[in-house]
Amino acid sequence: MVFESKHPLVKHKLSLMRSVETKPKKFRELIREVAMLLCYEATADLGTTAIEVKTPMGTAAGQELSEKIGLIPILRAGLGMVDGIWEMMPGAEVWHIGLYRDEETLQPVSYYNKLPTFPTVQVCLVLDPMLATGGSAIATIDILKKWGAQRIKFMGLLAAPEGIEALQKAHPDVPIHIAQIDSHLNDIGFIVPGLGDAGDRQFGTG
Ligand code: PRP
Repeated sequence: MVFESKHPLVKHKLSLMRSVETKPKKFRELIREVAMLLCYEATADLGTTAIEVKTPMGTAAGQELSEKIGLIPILRAGLGMVDGIWEMMPGAEVWHIGLYRDEETLQPVSYYNKLPTFPTVQVCLVLDPMLATGGSAIATIDILKKWGAQRIKFMGLLAAPEGIEALQKAHPDVPIHIAQIDSHLNDIGFIVPGLGDAGDRQFGTG
């Protein structure tokens, strides 16, 4: 299932991120904010347990999250999506996966993975702003499934139709939450019109 955000704040902030005028400091603020808004939508079906809460006036029927959440940023660009989400869910664990895309083959190359032997979370939110060919997301979800992750969601800012199709084909059980679906991939595997290289734009390395 693909969920493209319809939220005006997401659209507004994403448009600012796309602009060539937006500098890394502002870009980092925006990616943090858009990630929080997307997370609000992507976590709407998390499980809760009924609890009783003592208020100054009596007892209220409340709820608490019943599932352990893992945030899985794909390095580097996924890093900028962590902080805001983590602030809202401070009990989440963060497990980094390092992949870069080979510029010639466009295939993901793995360089960092320190997942423990057995899964420690029940819901994994894979964070990567760009879903281009889908190779990085598919490889990360392959890793998480081998790890034993049961429930996985993908969260990103921009997707190419090619990436969505590939990810849905490889992992039809993983819902895709995206701020906007763009037109296509160009011949060097960049999303068009896109926003450029989300890693470079955050870290000032472009
Ligand atoms: C970019 C982007 C995604 C990936 C998307 O990362 O941040 O991780 O490419 O492409 P795909 O869907 O075709 O796999 P990049 O390899 O540039 O690494 P970086 O985040 O370290 O800059």
